[in-house]
Amino acid sequence: MSVSTNAPRTSRGTLRSTKPLDQLAEIKDLFDERRVGYSLDAPFYTDPTVFSMDMQGIFQKHWLFAASVAEVPEPGDYVTIEYGPTSLLVMRNDDGGVNVLHNVCRHRGARVLTAPSGSTGNLVCGYHSWTYSPEGDLIHASAPGETDFDKSCFGLKKAHSRIYAGLIFVCVADEPPTDFDETAKIFEPYLAPHDLSRTKIAYQQNIVEEGNWKLVMENNRECYHCDGHPELACSLFPTWGLTEETVPPHLEDVWQRNKESEAALEARCRRYGLPYEVVEELDTRIAGIRISREPLDGEGESFSPDGHRLSKKLLGELRDFRLGRCSMHLQPNSWFHFLGDHVITFGVFPINEHQTLVRTTWLVADDAVEGDDYDLEKLTHTWKQTNIQDKAFVELCQQGAASPAYEPGPYMKSEYQVEAFINWYVQRMQEHLA
Ligand code: FES
Ligand SMILES: [Fe+2]
Repeated sequence: MSVSTNAPRTSRGTLRSTKPLDQLAEIKDLFDERRVGYSLDAPFYTDPTVFSMDMQGIFQKHWLFAASVAEVPEPGDYVTIEYGPTSLLVMRNDDGGVNVLHNVCRHRGARVLTAPSGSTGNLVCGYHSWTYSPEGDLIHASAPGETDFDKSCFGLKKAHSRIYAGLIFVCVADEPPTDFDETAKIFEPYLAPHDLSRTKIAYQQNIVEEGNWKLVMENNRECYHCDGHPELACSLFPTWGLTEETVPPHLEDVWQRNKESEAALEARCRRYGLPYEVVEELDTRIAGIRISREPLDGEGESFSPDGHRLSKKLLGELRDFRLGRCSMHLQPNSWFHFLGDHVITFGVFPINEHQTLVRTTWLVADDAVEGDDYDLEKLTHTWKQTNIQDKAFVELCQQGAASPAYEPGPYMKSEYQVEAFINWYVQRMQEHLA
């Protein structure tokens, strides 16, 4: 009897075991049996136990992008960052730095601040009014009759933070990965000229995608699906991720135009001393990174239908609008586009195994005036549309992964960065589970 070549290699749709230790062994097996070049088995996208492992092995161990300095410009400004079971307060302090505090009251664990962002002096828990300083010290707790209550033992727990090129990163591990400073040395020279400390939020969008966080990150690592982004394709060359060998006939003209724009952009970058080379270390670092400066189509300035600038004010000390897009993908949870006239940051915050918050923030020069220097609808149009389209793609894959018919499928050549992301994830998790 012959075996059909179409027979599923694996029919693993869910974890089979129910006991925690057996589940752990089964998850380890899933990692060990992972087929290189193929998407992951279904439980990686659908199983709550794998999700909780992801939170421990990735989100509680690595440096995460939290916000940009423009989101907390003044002392006392804060944003709440939530992922999995974690809630953090990222607060600007009086010294101009940033404190990151666990948003968990040391009395009975209530969330101390509940707004997604705001400004505050001391932090007062809404339950029994325990009051913390902006540094997290417990400074007031009414304690009638208590004689041996030592407030100094009950400060809010702190997490680590770093600011590089105006981006705020957090890490809740006791000992954060030490290679992050090295990663920052790679991206800082690319991003710093756009000077985020002199930007303001033009718009922020929070969307919940009905998909596992890895599907969100996978989707961002390929342009195989870029036919599904008509607005973006006006300015972003849809040949992204292709090579001379893999470019299809219908994109040959675009490929040529892209090559010419690339040469012109490189000449301009050399003139201004801006780095533009591709650095691609998606699965060779603890903080996987890809960064480059790449041309945009048309005028080459911004994500508009003709590539023309969307804000009249240049960022930082830049002297030219025609700088394409400096784009960074930073694992585990972010990607960015730095342009001459604005910046877009994308933060990925997992909620559970099948839902992920994607926060997109458009930043413009702090002296740009809405209506005069930029039109908010035009500024945000391309990526609002692109986000809606990407959300739909991610959700289709999540539905597929939950289906009994799902089995891992092959990544195409143009999806080599997706494979690299998955490879990074598997390595990091195997190290965690070892
Ligand atoms: S739980 Fe915060 S004061 Fe009681
Ligand atoms: Fe997309």
